Amino acid sequence: MATVEGVLKVFSGAAPPGRCHETSHSSMTSSLSVNPFISRKKRTASRKIITPYHSKLPLGGLSNVSLEEASSALCANRRFNRLELFSCKCQQAENDGETSTRDGNGSWFMDSKNELNPLDTMINGPNLLDFSETPLVKDDKEGTQKNCIPLYPANVDSVEDEAWDLLRDSVVYYCGTPVGTIAATDPTSSNVLNYDQVFIRDFVPSGIAFLLKGEYEIVRNFILHTLQLQSWEKTMDCHSPGQGLMPASFKVRTLPLEGDDSAMEEVLDPDFGEAAIGRVAPVDSGLWWIILLRAYGKISGDRSVQERIDVQTGIKMILKLCLADGFDMFPTLLVTDGSCMIDRRMGIHGHPLEIQSLFYSALLCAREMLAPEDGSADLIRALNNRLVALSFHIREYYWIDLRKLNEIYRYNTEEYSYDAVNKFNIYPDQIPPWLVEWIPNEGGYLIGNLQPAHMDFRFFSLGNFWAIVSGLTTSEQSHAILDLVEAKWADLVADMPLKISYPALEGEEWKIITGSDPKNTPWSYHNAGSWPTLLWQFTVACIKMNRPEIAARAVEIAERRISRDRWPEYYDTKKARFIGKQARLFQTWSIAGYLVAKLLLADPSLAKILVTDEDSELVNAFSCMISSNPRRKRGRKSSPQSYII
Ligand code: GLC
Repeated sequence: MATVEGVLKVFSGAAPPGRCHETSHSSMTSSLSVNPFISRKKRTASRKIITPYHSKLPLGGLSNVSLEEASSALCANRRFNRLELFSCKCQQAENDGETSTRDGNGSWFMDSKNELNPLDTMINGPNLLDFSETPLVKDDKEGTQKNCIPLYPANVDSVEDEAWDLLRDSVVYYCGTPVGTIAATDPTSSNVLNYDQVFIRDFVPSGIAFLLKGEYEIVRNFILHTLQLQSWEKTMDCHSPGQGLMPASFKVRTLPLEGDDSAMEEVLDPDFGEAAIGRVAPVDSGLWWIILLRAYGKISGDRSVQERIDVQTGIKMILKLCLADGFDMFPTLLVTDGSCMIDRRMGIHGHPLEIQSLFYSALLCAREMLAPEDGSADLIRALNNRLVALSFHIREYYWIDLRKLNEIYRYNTEEYSYDAVNKFNIYPDQIPPWLVEWIPNEGGYLIGNLQPAHMDFRFFSLGNFWAIVSGLTTSEQSHAILDLVEAKWADLVADMPLKISYPALEGEEWKIITGSDPKNTPWSYHNAGSWPTLLWQFTVACIKMNRPEIAARAVEIAERRISRDRWPEYYDTKKARFIGKQARLFQTWSIAGYLVAKLLLADPSLAKILVTDEDSELVNAFSCMISSNPRRKRGRKSSPQSYII
């Protein structure tokens, strides 16, 4: 099936642009492949854009495909050198070695030897800052930084204007077209790691910001280019993960063209986790891709992208991967540690909430977009069954509030029966002492993970917020989560929104669960650090529940210092007082997250492009399940085994 789909995908327009297309040599330079902010090369004003796609084929399928197209599809399906595919040929860059500084609007300081030519700026867009030659020098007396490192935006109208400038500067181009945004452009960090790549999850707030601004092209390109990468051959030590996997990130590389020294080609080089620290699988990438695809269609009105046969195939491949039968007893997705935003060992292996919320959301979005056709009936049936089972499971078993906690506190254990109350054999002693104090009288939340004899009681922001956005929680539960955020404002928002998780793993627990990870020390990074990017998901959740004022308060707190702090990736300490120990500065999703929050608060109606509501059929199915819940009635025979909508 996968092979047929792979071929279909190529037929329908997802063929590698440089491989199966007539490519034209353009006059753009190799600097197009990277953020101009960090490149030393200048983009030339005139460039010929290479059309990266075949035009869409009729939905009818293969019958209209010529022999020539068929053979090129098959050739593209062969195993090529990884850099050979997904490349476009660009003319050799004329590397004039010129170093220039960024921005004609006075945002950045300039090195006197690199006086800026305003005309140049107009033609070439933002100029470049050579940070390698301008080390950060701290002036103790004034507590300010000298030289070319931007400290305060000198001449921008507002934090928002500065954020837009930075976001635009983070755009990555492939063959002259914008395809994503770089994860971070930190002039103070010498170790780039993979922060110079376009991360799928990081691009989502950038993409949404552009969509909300009416700039659709970059999102469309991102969707279609990452789709090409989906079917890429990926292996780790001879093992291949499932076909529908989307990469965690990709990089645009500029390489000499094979057999032609005078020409360069740009290539898209994906990382599916095979190079990532810890070799983590990006389970969330495909889910975010589906969510972004729907948002694109909703706001632009351009449904032609989601209707393309290759895009439909891409959606189905992700769904098949997620809905495949395994050994699981639970409807939740079983994943390894580090398979989402928290991409390091943090004790979230199993059924982490973030993945479940994204999974639920992606299922709903996909259902909306899948073209009805005979071949998909089984898939849609499986999808619907999973939606019902998943929402039941999460609402029932992940939910915690004072009442439920008290119930767990009094649990009987070792219940061998079909109608056990304590189904997962949770020992009441697992209730952590912090939670007994922390749980408010009003409010509640979804716990981080549930496994046999194990509840991870930590509060994870993204999973909770996206459960609200997607309607995975009931309306009552959604309000209760926001009540909890308000009640625990000093812990979850404090000096910078928002804690990625709460509380931190400390002492022995930190040693055992993180493997003594020095990056994830208590109250830092993934271990209860504070991440400004989470503002956008929080804002969507607040708007959905008609409580935008809560998000506005959080945005206001961020606004006080985020620009002055140079847009860090994350903050440390219990109250988020410090910029994170190893946090990147000018982290794009911190910038984009802030912008999305601002744009949505300015026009809350736009949040509908991200929100999904329960439909009445799902509600019916859900109540059906509740009434047959073995907690109330033994359900082995009577519980509905499948639900067909
Ligand atoms: C870190 C984060 C991850 C993010 C990446 C790029 O690895 O944990 O969520 O995608 O940085 O910003």
